[in-house]
Parts: sequence; C-alpha cells; structure tokens
Amino acid sequence: MSEPRQILVTSALPYANGSIHLGHMLEYIQTDMWVRYQKHRGNQCVYVCADDAHGSAIMLRAEKEGITAQQLIDAVQIEHSTDFADFLVEFDNFHSTHSEENRELSSQIYLKLRDAGHIATRSITQYFDPQKQMFLADRFIKGTCPKCAAEDQYGDNCEKCGATYAPTELKNPKSAISGATPVLKDSQHFFFKLPDFQAMLQDWTRSGTLQDAVANKLAEWLDAGLQEWDISRDAPYFGFEIPDEPGKYFYVWLDAPIGYMASFKNLCARRPELDFDAYWARNSKAELYHFIGKDIVNFHALFWPAMLEGAGYRKPTGINVHGYLTVNGQKMSKSRGTFIKARTYLDHLSPEYLRYYYAAKLSRGVDDLDLNLEDFVQKVNSDLVGKVVNIASRCAGFIHKGNAGVMVEGNAAPELTDAFLAAAPGIADAYETRDFARAMREIMGLADRANAWIADKAPWALAKQEGKQDEVQAVCALGINLFRQLVIFLKPVLPVLASDAEAFLNVAPLTWDDHKTLLNNHTLNPFQALMTRIDPAKVQAMTDASKEDLAASQTAPAGNGELLKDPLSAEIEFDTFAAVDLRVALILKAEAVEGADKLLRLTLDIGDEQRNVFSGIKSAYPNPAELEGRLTMMIANLKPRKMRFGISEGMVMAAGPGGEEIYLLSPDSGAKPGQRIK
Ligand code: 2FM
Ligand code: ZN
Repeated sequence: MSEPRQILVTSALPYANGSIHLGHMLEYIQTDMWVRYQKHRGNQCVYVCADDAHGSAIMLRAEKEGITAQQLIDAVQIEHSTDFADFLVEFDNFHSTHSEENRELSSQIYLKLRDAGHIATRSITQYFDPQKQMFLADRFIKGTCPKCAAEDQYGDNCEKCGATYAPTELKNPKSAISGATPVLKDSQHFFFKLPDFQAMLQDWTRSGTLQDAVANKLAEWLDAGLQEWDISRDAPYFGFEIPDEPGKYFYVWLDAPIGYMASFKNLCARRPELDFDAYWARNSKAELYHFIGKDIVNFHALFWPAMLEGAGYRKPTGINVHGYLTVNGQKMSKSRGTFIKARTYLDHLSPEYLRYYYAAKLSRGVDDLDLNLEDFVQKVNSDLVGKVVNIASRCAGFIHKGNAGVMVEGNAAPELTDAFLAAAPGIADAYETRDFARAMREIMGLADRANAWIADKAPWALAKQEGKQDEVQAVCALGINLFRQLVIFLKPVLPVLASDAEAFLNVAPLTWDDHKTLLNNHTLNPFQALMTRIDPAKVQAMTDASKEDLAASQTAPAGNGELLKDPLSAEIEFDTFAAVDLRVALILKAEAVEGADKLLRLTLDIGDEQRNVFSGIKSAYPNPAELEGRLTMMIANLKPRKMRFGISEGMVMAAGPGGEEIYLLSPDSGAKPGQRIK
C-alpha cells in the first residue's frame, strides 16, 4: 500500500461583508467533494478557509450600519459558517483573516520580502475625499464617462460603453461615499517587486501546476511583462498596519492568501498530528491546492507564489480554477429571482440536490457552469431518486418480509459485481482529476445496469410464484449490495445520503475500499425513504423568495434598520391592500440594541400575541422607555426577517425623513391592541 498523502486544500476566502450565494457555493461544493474524496481514500487531507475580513468596503459597511468592523465580521462569520455547514461543506477550520496568526504571518512575510530587497516605495497621486479624509479606491469614485458621457459611472470603467480609464479622466468626479468632489493628493506607497520573480513564474506556471487554459492566459501576462504590485493603503483602512510604517496598511489582497496559512496555523494548535512546517516549509512533501474562480487567477498564480518564494516558503502544488455559475443560461439576476442566496436555497431545498447537480456538471475545465432549474429537477429526480435510491426501495421490502431483514449469502450475478469492481479505478481517477461529471456518468451507468438487471429478474413477480423465495432473496440481496457500492462511490458528493444508507445497511461508515467486498448473511435495519423527489413548486418558491429578498433589500429596513425609502408609487389592487394585516399594537417594551446605532427592539402586544420587532427609529427616540405603554400601528403579517440581532416579526409604521425626524404613527385614544385597521 502506498503511503497516505498529506494534502492541504483551500477555497477562496469569502468577503466578510455579504451573504454567500449559489455562485460561491459552486466552489465550496467542488472543493468539499474533492476533499471528502481524499479523506474517503484514507489520505490526510485538511481543508481550511476563513472570512476575508479586511478592506475599505468592510470598514464602510460597518460604519453605515453603525457597528464596529469587528462586530460586522463576527456576525458575518457566523452566517457564513452556518451556510457552509448546512450545505455539508465540512471545513477542518474556518478562520478569519483578521486574526493574530494572520497578523504575525503577514508581518513576517512582508519583512522577509523587504529585507530581501523585494519591496519598493514611491509616492503616488490619487483622488482623496476631503470630507471623509480618505483616499478613494476607483469604485468609490463616480462621474461622467469620458468616452460616451454616460453619468454615474465608476472610476475605472463605464458600464454603458465598456470603456476603461483612469479615475482622473472621469468628468465631474464625486466621492461615492460623501458626494464631495475629490482632490488629488500624494502619498507614499509600498510595492512588491513582482518582476524579480519573472523567471521563477515562467517555469512554475508551466510545470503542470495549472490547467492549460489558465497557463496560456498567464503566459500572455508574463510575456507582456510583470508590473510592481501596490500592497499598501493609507489610513483609515480596516486591516493590519505595516510594520515600521505607522498609518500604512497592508492592502486586503496582501494578507488574504496568507489567511490560508493562518487558518492552517490556527488549526495546528488544536490538532497535534498536524505540523505547520511539514506543510509550508520550502522542502515540504505535502501537497497544497487552492480552488478558486477564474477572476482571481493573477492573485493566486502570480503574486502568491512569488510572495511564498520570496519569503522562503513552498509554492502551491496546483491552482484549481473553475468558471462562473449561470442560472437558466444567464448571469444570476436579482429581478429574475436567480440571484439565489445559500440560505434562500436551504429554506426550500435539500443541499444534496445541488451538490449532485453541480457534481454532474463539473469537469476540470474553466468553462462556466449552468444551473438550469428545470434540468436540475429532472436530473436529480431521475438519477438520485429514480436510479440510486430506487434500487434500495425496490429490494428492501422483500428482504424484510421474506427473510427477517437478513441478506442471504452468495452472489447472484458475478458479471455485474465484476463490472462494478472494474469501474472503480476509473471513477477514482475522475474524482482525483476533478472530473466530477465523468465520475457521476460512470456511477449512473452502473446504476442503470443494476436497475436493468433487477427489472429483468423482477423479484416482485417471482415473489408471487411458488418456490421462488430463494431466488427473490438472492436477487434482492445483490440489489442491496449494488446499492451499497453506488453509495460508496457517491459518498463524497452525498454525505447525508451515505450516512442514512449506512444506518439502513447497518454498517460502520463506509470507506472507498469497502467497494471491494459484499455484505453476506447480514441483517439490515428497517428501510426508510432515503431521498424524496424535488417538487418543482419548491424551486418556484425559491426563486420567488429570491425576488422578495431583492424587494426587501430595496424597500424594507435592511439588516441595518433603515427606514422605508421612497414609497412605491404604482397602484395596487384592493386585494393586495386587503392582504396586509395592519393592527394596533401596544408597545410593552422598547430598548436599545447593543451594537446597533439605529435600532430599537420593541416588544409589542397585538391582542392575541406578543411580537418582537426591530425598528430603525432610535435616533428619534433616544430614551426608548418613553415609548412604553404607547399605541402604534404595525404590519402583522410581514414575513419574519432574520436580522443580525434576532428575528423581526413585523414592522411598525412611522413617517418622516429620518434621523431625529421620525414620527411613529398612533391611533386615536380608545383603540385596542390587536384591532385591525380597515
Ligand atoms: O474574490 C474574493 O472574494 C476574495 N475575497 C478572495 C480571496 S482568496 C484568498 F486569496 F484569500
Ligand atoms: Zn461610457
């Protein structure tokens, strides 16, 4: 037997300022299936990730929500971890780039690069927001396109005509943060001298580390010549201060990939069998793979290996690049309801459906993957329910009824079990090379053969004939054995199906090598439905809810409790109005919410029940207790919204422009809590 491999695997670190959506999930599911396959094979495989917590976007969002950056990233880390866990993405560690390990490693790597002469400094001129007192990244500048005169375009490219330009070329530039007119200002920046690594990168990118399409793209960049990379940002910035350079911070992309190391280091402290140096030292024998999307190849296949090389660490064994996700053939779209958040999917559908569909469509290339929702329903229902689970449900009953749940000894179709055995190396190779689509095709081909054989033997017909009981048992025992083989092959993709099947089969957790044996004279546990068909109505409900997410984020108080923006002016039908449950509510309790500048938590009595509602009215009511005992009006049938601080079960009604000028609506005296507004 060959030695178990030591493999460290990462997925790109998600930014800590937004929710995970199905486009993100493509990468995490792809990586997780590969990692689970490696573990299934008995290799030491470690999967680490973290939130990418730094940068001005996160700083500004926290500011807007009236919370600290730390509070924001802590809350998002919980949300992200829960989404991943519920999609059965099993990290060995999910850390944060805003961690002590990362601060130390980033400083250490920077100092090594600096001391080896790979850091340059020079002054650059950039737009500066005089009101916010901060330098503006290109996307925080808006103005008129210099080419086509479209208004309200970003500082680096025009969405209307596609032109790219320098922010200084933009006409009538404005800070997107404060609205102020930016001024040009100089400051000292730090650059990583990437050209020092040209020769190394030329070799490394051609050493089999990358898919061909990626290596070709990199060759173009390398041939064009590498530029020095600006790795510093001026205060105010949420990140790590550069050693010996007060007021200067590492650019988020400098410490993000180091976050892979930091997450692993953090894990090593808990897992004594893992040795940091065994994985990261220059002479490490361990393998290191980064799974990423095609938009961030330059960071991973140029800057990152160069940083590692310059600081004396090993370089990645492979960078595994995937394409983008489209839904129904198009870019995910909020208005079509195809911009689907991980949580919205999970509210309606089981994670394994999507895991299987992604597996069935993912090959090793960088092509985009289309989630066609009709095909999704059809394929999952036909393959998983119709082919795989069907085998067990067809056979289990006869074994329970006819033989007290005991699978008889023997092998009723050696040619079939031989075919399964012979297919295993090909399936293994497909998994290893990330050609999940091929693995799924081969597995479903086996499932087809098993079903055809069972259909041919027709145990349900034999069972009605005299003297055929032994044959029924022999057929069904083999059917269950073939089902078990399929589950072994599918386990990296469908871990819950596998563990439910293990419970039914009454066996210890299955490993890859278990496919070489058959269960003989073995007692099964009672059969329970292992997977149900996808109801297309649930898919519809999911896209409807995704449209609602959009409507909610545009009009209702978002996570930050902002008041309603402009009321919609379109007319509505009477039925729509009548569907709104407007009620008189008595404010039993009103209190500030820790960590939120604008929110009050209200406990409301609406006659037959109490409700917890968050409302962004704190600036108008700095002494919330004064609201207690007062009547107001609320929408009682608004779908509960999960907010950062808890669930909001409705919305109270207020008027006014905002800030201190917010007026909570009240009925005339005499109204009673719970009365409906007509
Ligand atoms: O593109 C992104 O979403 C980045 N947050 C990915 C970072 S990957 C790594 F380098 F940290
Ligand atoms: Zn333009």
